[in-house]
Parts: sequence; structure tokens; C-alpha cells
Amino acid sequence: MIIVKDNYFHLSTDKTSYVFMINEAGLPEHIYYGKKIGRKDGSLNVTALRERIGFVPGNTVNYSPEHERLSLEAYSSEYSALGHGDIREPSIIIVHPNGSVTSDFIFESHEVLDELSEDIEKSKLPHSYDENGSYEHLKIILKDRVYEEKLELHYFVYPNEDVITKSVMLKNEGDAEIRVERLMSGCMEFPFTSFKVTSFRGRWAHEMNRCDNIITGGKMVLSSSQGSSGSRCNPFFIMSDMPVTENTGRAYGFNLVYSGDHYSALETSAYGKTRLVSGINPDSFSYILGAGEMIAAPEAVLSYSEEGYNGLSRNMHHFIRKHIVRGYWRDRERPILLNSWEAAYFDINESKLLKLAKVGKECGMELFVMDDGWFGRRDDDKSSLGDWYENKKKLPNGLKGLVEKINKMGMKFGIWVEPEMVSVDSDLYREHPEYTMEIQGQMHSEGRNQRVLNLADPKVIDYLYEKLEAVFSSANIEYVKWDMNRVFSDVYAGNLPAENQGEVSYRHMLGLYELLDRLTKAFPEILFEGCASGGNRFDLGMLCYFPQIWASDNTDAISRIDIEKGYSYGYPMNTVSSHVSGVPNHQTLRVVPIETRFNIAVLGVLGYESNLLDFSKEDIEKIKKQVALYKEWRGMLMSGDFYRTDPYEKDQGLIREGLAGFYSGNNNTDSFTIVSSDKEKAVAVIVRRMAVANDSAQKLYVNGLDDEAEYHLYNIKYDNNIKEFGDLINTVSPIHIKQDSMMQNIISKFVHLKGDEEDVVLSGSEMKNAGVSLAPSFGGTGYEDGMRLFSDYSSRLYFIEKI
Ligand code: DGJ
Repeated sequence: MIIVKDNYFHLSTDKTSYVFMINEAGLPEHIYYGKKIGRKDGSLNVTALRERIGFVPGNTVNYSPEHERLSLEAYSSEYSALGHGDIREPSIIIVHPNGSVTSDFIFESHEVLDELSEDIEKSKLPHSYDENGSYEHLKIILKDRVYEEKLELHYFVYPNEDVITKSVMLKNEGDAEIRVERLMSGCMEFPFTSFKVTSFRGRWAHEMNRCDNIITGGKMVLSSSQGSSGSRCNPFFIMSDMPVTENTGRAYGFNLVYSGDHYSALETSAYGKTRLVSGINPDSFSYILGAGEMIAAPEAVLSYSEEGYNGLSRNMHHFIRKHIVRGYWRDRERPILLNSWEAAYFDINESKLLKLAKVGKECGMELFVMDDGWFGRRDDDKSSLGDWYENKKKLPNGLKGLVEKINKMGMKFGIWVEPEMVSVDSDLYREHPEYTMEIQGQMHSEGRNQRVLNLADPKVIDYLYEKLEAVFSSANIEYVKWDMNRVFSDVYAGNLPAENQGEVSYRHMLGLYELLDRLTKAFPEILFEGCASGGNRFDLGMLCYFPQIWASDNTDAISRIDIEKGYSYGYPMNTVSSHVSGVPNHQTLRVVPIETRFNIAVLGVLGYESNLLDFSKEDIEKIKKQVALYKEWRGMLMSGDFYRTDPYEKDQGLIREGLAGFYSGNNNTDSFTIVSSDKEKAVAVIVRRMAVANDSAQKLYVNGLDDEAEYHLYNIKYDNNIKEFGDLINTVSPIHIKQDSMMQNIISKFVHLKGDEEDVVLSGSEMKNAGVSLAPSFGGTGYEDGMRLFSDYSSRLYFIEKI
């Protein structure tokens, strides 16, 4: 609901309120964001809510002679600017025609709309949408007191998801050009400090590590300068009012619908406030806005929950699923794929691929993906990016021939491309060196032996569209993995004059979005998967075009626990692509059981990525069962509500550590539950990092079910392999069994020890509050049938169905 009354605006969702007013000076003043407030009709006593100003504090500056009690350093801004006493983070910096950087935007008008305005559509930036038209849209127009410049602040209210989004546009209505040095997507202030800021940081193959900082003073910046949203610091972050656990406490979440360099600054003020500004990173942005021109800042997404981190995540998940991800695949079950990368890297050819696909098909997989190495002379990463035609030596029957054979096997076919890049050793670079982002005559710093194409040049967009359109329509291609593998450097666009070079990063993003828009419209049924050396561009901008993204090049299941958990804070798990790979793992050399590799991969969109031809028969049989099981539960896994448990917080979650785990303080067991939206079914996953001795009693706590309904909980039955006991087996064996001996192998084939089996009926409230007692795990002092072997990297899946 949007209420416009007197001088204030009250935007409310089911459970939240966002309030600002136009103050006596005509400036937009932020009042409140948080739990829903107000009377039945949504009205508020804003005069009593806003900060009351006596005299301007201390040595701060009076805004103007008419408003001498107003100090911009001390008030709460709804969109801050430089000058007139505001010495904190600005939302906008404009160098006006006279060289001044002071801006003073005051209220001109407002409008309540029920659709996206034309200007936003024209901006070419991706934006949230609502196919049922249940959102509301508030447009505020501000005008500079002195200069012919107008700012539009757009607010979109998504009531059911408890999400509000903001977009900002600047129009130069003067007759001279101006230079925009900063244009944030939003600004907001809180009347207190000491927030806990949770950001998600990392590097290649180590993405989305949760990082908590408490800011009591100073400024904290969360940003990216790598040319993409990046793995160093994802644009999603949380601000929480301590104490917050997974299921309790107040948490604010923020994200941007943008894939380039981003910037969010949280600044505490001398007067006890916290200001947040968020948008494009101004370090790589300086834009000349000509007379009559307009520029847009990307959309910012805000949410608030009183149900802890899990509550906030659910808001974000629901919002992204329905209002960011779009198109044919949005609600469809995604195919289980087999990818050739970790199976063969660049060393691929038709016969190898067909053999691999055949095993995949036998296992029940549905889509075969030919990764890097199929085009130009691409035998390693030193050449051929840009040459998007098949290598006839590797694919003698062409792409079409290969695809036909894969389709004949009963599998869909998918292909890998990295269109934004060019190798210097490529026909494209030889023919069109001017398409590249590089500074003529200067040394270029290479990354993975490749350079970035200049997508700020419309010619390059047209060229790429034409080439890719030809590839995608040359055969029955039903999936595309769109990769992007380098950090930008030496950013320069040969098609732009010197004074416009500060626009390249932003224009490059607009070019990319235009290309993606054209291609996804031309091929609406192709399933596009984003990728950038794994998770270097996992953001809401990409999710407007790609329904799923390869989350990390790290396929090790134990590393993936944290990576996937990290994504789950801000992104729905049906956007997080996750593969079962071989062991020893290629990134960590860790050996993790095939069960756990699967149990972690099912949290996201399941795929396989390894040379299955070298897998043991036993593992192939297990994979067949995994694939069949996933198909049975896939719909629910992809659409259900996701709950995390953090044993550190001793929260009311899914599993609590046994007593030993508790006292050792080990964060050893992680657990997650996915509950169908109708609460009819759930799947719980528990996974152990390192075994703890003498810690056998554990409980599983399941959130999200109907309290009074009865549920049947069961697991897949396991046999315990005598090999897992090593030498201990000799304490019961009549004959001595040497480890790794032929004897041990033979015995392990024929002697089966009964493993843990759960088969209970409990109410939702029992599972949530009292917890399900799991079969005792091996504790070092004895063994009997039905024990749970829960050693390093062990895991379990539990299935829960309403009776
Ligand atoms: C990086 C991706 O993240 C990998 O999955 C793989 O596609 C390689 N690029 C191919 O070069």
C-alpha cells in the first residue's frame, strides 16, 4: 500500500513500513524503515516520529537562512547530496556547468502508478517486474533549486514478499552538459549505530564466505572494482540489529539489480545515525550527461524481517523467484545435466563426448553440456575466444552432427560460450582489434590470456548478436552456459572520445544487458546458465536473464557447504547450480563419499561433472539411484522454502550438536531443510565436517512444518561397509583381516552391516520443538546394527511427508 498524506509517504508491505516526508525546506527526509507501523488506514503521526530539531547542533552548518534550524549533517536524508552542510556520504555528485558540485534537490511532484514507467524501460537496465500487477509504484520528482536538473526517485512495493525496490533517474534539462560523478540507487538513514553488517566475500573457488562486522563508528564500504559484481564482495548484504539468529531477530537485506562494479557505504555520523548509500561504484563511473539527456541508476532491493536471517532469506527468495527470474524456465524443473569440463577439460572430441553422454544417459541424466574447447583452435586457454565456429578436427560432423547424436540418445544438448571475451590469438582479434577494451599503444595486463570486448560499442553488440544467433540456431541447442573469465583492467573504449572514458564500465554493462535481452528474446526456450569463473557474477542483474548461475568452480562438497550456505542468505537455491564431481576433488584433492557429494548438490540445481567412464560400477549404480530420487523430489526441492541452521548460534533450528559437539564448540554439523510451500513435504540434509569422538546422540530439528499435522520421516537405508572400520574389524573377526587386502575386499562385498534407518511419525511441532532423535552414531566404544556411521564428510538426507 502507498499512502500519500499531508507531507509524508508511507509505503507498506504485509509486514513492513517505509516512511519519508517532504520537510519544510522541501527536502525529502527519511523517517523510518522496519516493522509495519501506523493506524488501520496506514496513517501516521509523522510530526512525532521525525527527529525534532532544536538549534543546529555544535559547529554544523545551517541549511539556509529560512531554515536555520536545519543541519544537513544531522538530519536523515532520503537522497543525500554534496553541499549546504551535508558532509557525509553523498548519493549524487554532479559537476554543474559552472564547475560547482553543490546540489540541492527539492520536491516538485509525485505520482502513484501501477506499472513500470517508460523511462525505466528505456534505461536498458534490468528491473524487477510483476506479471500479476500486484505491485505499486511511487514516483517522486525532485528539482535542483538552482540548476535545470531533475531527479526521479521511483519506489516499487511488493507486498507479499516484504520487499521494496528503488530506482533513480537523473535528467539534465539545462542546455549545457554536466558531469555525473556519482548516482546512487538509494539512500537511507537509521537513527542509531552499532549494526552488525553481514557481507559475503571471497575469491575464485572460495565464494560467499559470511563475514560479520559491527560498526559502532566510522564507515564501512562493501564494493567491487573488478568489472563485474564479483566474488570479492557480493552486492547482497545484511544489516542486523543484534542479537539475530537464523530464526529470530531483526534483519535488513539489500541488493542491487546490477552486474558491474557496485558500492555500498554505511557511515555512522557524529550524531548517532547510520547512513546507507548503495549503487554503482563511483570509482569507475564519471558520466557526461548532455543537454536533454537522462541516466538511470540500477534498481536497489530492500527487505526486512523480524524472523531472523531465515525470514529475510525467504523474503529475498520469494521476490527473486517471481519478480527477478523470468521467462520459460522460471517455474520449470531444470534438467539434470552432465558437463564435460572436469571430465576432459579442453581435450574433447565427438567420440569422447558421445561416450560420456552415453553413461550420463544410462544414469538418467537429461542434458549433456559440451563445455570449453569445441571452437576455433581452442586446445588450451591461450587462443580462439571470439571464433565461434566448431573445430572440425574435434567435431568432424559439426555441431549439428554431434547434437543430433546426443538428441538421438534421448538427451538435450547444451553448449558453452564466453562471448564477452577475445583471445589475441584469434581470427576475431586479427580482423577487429578495435573491438577490444584496451588502450592503444600501451601495455595490456592479460588475464587468463584474454581481453575484454568493448560492449560499450554498439557495433560489437551487433557483431556478437549475429555470431551467437548463428551458433544457437545452427543445431538443436537447448542450454547455453555463458561464461566470463577475467577481471577487467585497462578499461578503455576506442569508440568513445577521451572525455567519455569514465562512462565505459557503465556503458559496457548496458551493452551486455542489451545483448542478453536480444538473445534471450530470440531464444526464449533456451535455458541460459550464467557463469564467471564460477561465482564472479552472481547477482540480480544476471538473474534477470539467466534463471540459474554456476555458483563456484569449486565442486568439493565440503567447500560447497559454505559456498551454498552463503548464497542461500540472499538467493533462492533454484538459481544456484551445483554439481557432483569426481574424487580426489580437482580443487581441494579431498575425497568425499559420493552420497555426500550428492546430498550437498541437491541443495541447488543438480548436475554432474566428471569422467563417469572411470567411475566404479558401484558408484554408477549409486548415481542412477540418486538421479531417480532427485527426479522424484526435484519439483519440491526447487520451489520449497529453505531453512539454515547455525549450530554456533544454538538456535532453534534443524539439528543441534550432541553434547560433545556442544562442549567442543565445533561447528561440525550443518543442516538445511527445504519445505514445500504447501507444507506437505520436506527434505532435511545434515552433513558432518569432522567427526567428533564419543558424540553419538543427536537430534534433528525441523522447521517450517504445520505444527499440528502428522508427518512421516524416513531416510534412505544405508549398509555400513566393514572397510570403514579398518583394523577395528579384527576385534570381532575370527580371522585376521588386513586393510586393503583382497580378503577385506571380498568380505566387504558379501558381509553387510545394517546401517541407520529412520522411520517415525511425528507432528510438525514435535519435530520443531522437541526434535527427532536420530539413530546413535558410532562413538568409539561399541557397535551394533542400525548405528549411524557419521565420520568425516558423512551426511544424511531425511524425507518428510504429511500423512
Ligand atoms: C570457468 C568456468 O567456471 C568453468 O566451469 C569452465 O566452464 C571453464 N571456465 C572453461 O574455460
